[in-house]
Amino acid sequence: MSPETQQWTPTHGQPYRPVAYRPARMPGPESLARAAELRARMDERRTVRRFSPDPVPEQAVRDAIACAATAPSGAHQQPWTFVLVKDPAVRQQIRAAAEQEEQISYDGRLGDEWLAALRPIGTDAVKTHLTDAPALIVVFQQRYWLGPNGTKRKHYYVDESVGIAVGMLLSALHLSGLAALIHTPSPMRFLAHVLNRPENEKAFAVIPVGYPAEDCEVPDLVRKSLDQVLVEV
Ligand SMILES: Cc1cc2nc3c(=O)[nH]c(=O)nc-3n(C[C@H](O)[C@H](O)[C@H](O)COP(=O)(O)O)c2cc1C
Repeated sequence: MSPETQQWTPTHGQPYRPVAYRPARMPGPESLARAAELRARMDERRTVRRFSPDPVPEQAVRDAIACAATAPSGAHQQPWTFVLVKDPAVRQQIRAAAEQEEQISYDGRLGDEWLAALRPIGTDAVKTHLTDAPALIVVFQQRYWLGPNGTKRKHYYVDESVGIAVGMLLSALHLSGLAALIHTPSPMRFLAHVLNRPENEKAFAVIPVGYPAEDCEVPDLVRKSLDQVLVEV
């Protein structure tokens, strides 16, 4: 469905209107080849925390956000907003607020068990990525629908829907040749304030996007093998 041809408005209580769906079936060998290629490409994705300030092709970022917005969502309520922050002054404001919260977290708010879990990842309270990366995508969950005149309507499976959309966003960015990090400062109420979001929106994550810095390093992590994550019945 092309966004140019049909404008979405919230649906609620309308009748079921089916349309035919007949995508061409991909031959098995082509599916196998594509799946193997995709698996190899996705295995190359790493979370990047040291970014080059080099600009990125902005339309590629918008296209990745458009890919994320094709995600399935509870009752098709699409409970997400993506705020693309390029303005260096706003990125600096977000970094200052995030580092203030992160300092408290790393000084003990997280607790020993959480800090121990983070040690092999190598993170600390300094968040250079928030100002080095040329763009930040701040993802908000719409906890409920807020209509004109303050009308509210419940949204269903918001966490799951936004989580799936963010997974698709990270995949799209990676497959477009861009590096990203999903950063979840805790608490992150300051994001709605800095970005002047409406009362129904709650920050979900900040995703810096760019290219890895020349001296970028990542932790030497091992992923679970397929037989450790797959149970076939
Ligand atoms: C929900 C979620 C929250 C995360 N929050 C942070 C974060 O706040 N800061 C950070 O540096 N990395 C964060 N990460 C990134 C993980 O640390 C990273 O995905 C993990 O170490 C595996 O590394 P990889 O992405 O390179 O495979 C987060 C990842 C997820 C899925």
